[in-house]
Amino acid sequence: MNLKLDNKFAIVCASTKGLGFAVAKSLLNEGCEVLICSSKEANISRANEILSNEGLKNFHSLKVDLSTNEGVVKLFKFAVSKSKRIDILVNNCGGPDQGTFDDVNEEQLINAFNKNLKNIFTLTKLVLPIMKANNWGRIVNITSTSAKQPIDSLILSNIMRSATTSFSKSISNEYARFNIMVNNVLPGRILTDRILQISELKSKESGIDKRDILEALGQDLPIGRIGNPEEFAPIVTFLCSEMSSYITGNSINVDGGLVKSLF
Ligand SMILES: NC(=O)c1ccc[n+]([C@@H]2O[C@H](COP(=O)([O-])OP(=O)(O)OC[C@H]3O[C@@H](n4cnc5c(N)ncnc54)[C@H](OP(=O)(O)O)[C@@H]3O)[C@@H](O)[C@H]2O)c1
Repeated sequence: MNLKLDNKFAIVCASTKGLGFAVAKSLLNEGCEVLICSSKEANISRANEILSNEGLKNFHSLKVDLSTNEGVVKLFKFAVSKSKRIDILVNNCGGPDQGTFDDVNEEQLINAFNKNLKNIFTLTKLVLPIMKANNWGRIVNITSTSAKQPIDSLILSNIMRSATTSFSKSISNEYARFNIMVNNVLPGRILTDRILQISELKSKESGIDKRDILEALGQDLPIGRIGNPEEFAPIVTFLCSEMSSYITGNSINVDGGLVKSLF
């Protein structure tokens, strides 16, 4: 299948590690020009090195804190300085703080809002006029299965991911006529630092070794194992491509069968 990603320009948010990095790599392998970013210099240098060592050259990288308005605007301005077109936006950021309703406070709610909803809103607002003028665009939000099935002890994720789903459904309706497709991809238990942090927290709470926690997190799924980022990236890449020209307003799980609902 020719995804026709040559000559496309993509912003992939929070993409020096984990899911964002796997998506950036996959888009680069399909011939796309990619802007990667994250907030820590060390992660950016490491990502640059890995991509270069794999012979991938058509990328730019930028240090930005996507939980701030300045960071989001900086990312947009940098993108515009590198390319006349912004064809693809993959919204992503580090996950919100963990905890039940009892555990979290208002400040954490606001941080989660800034990291996992506000920047999606602002960046989307900035790029949509460019996509509309080009009569082509793809927006993919990396959210969580918590958007469909709330996860115990992740109340902030449950709140922000369902709000993102409503937001993207609304704009998918408003922009489909301009060939701009907007979809969400919902990871569940993919082996990245985020999952390692969650298993460490569970380990501290329960006294069970974190390796046993990880093993149990996999065994608990219909597929019987945790996934890896390379199993997550292809569907995002497909949704960023010409081939997804009749798919919009959807939320697709990549979760080894975790979500129990029919839709
Ligand atoms: N892995 C899973 O199974 C899973 C399941 C459900 C939901 N999710 C969600 O999917 C998203 C990605 O998760 P992941 O597993 O890929 O996490 P990860 O491996 O921890 O990677 C997170 C990436 O985000 C960047 N980042 C964090 N805060 C940032 C900020 N303020 N500004 C810019 N970049 C920032 C990090 O780099 P820096 O530290 O350098 O900024 C890193 O590149 C998260 O929202 C997570 O909650 C993941």
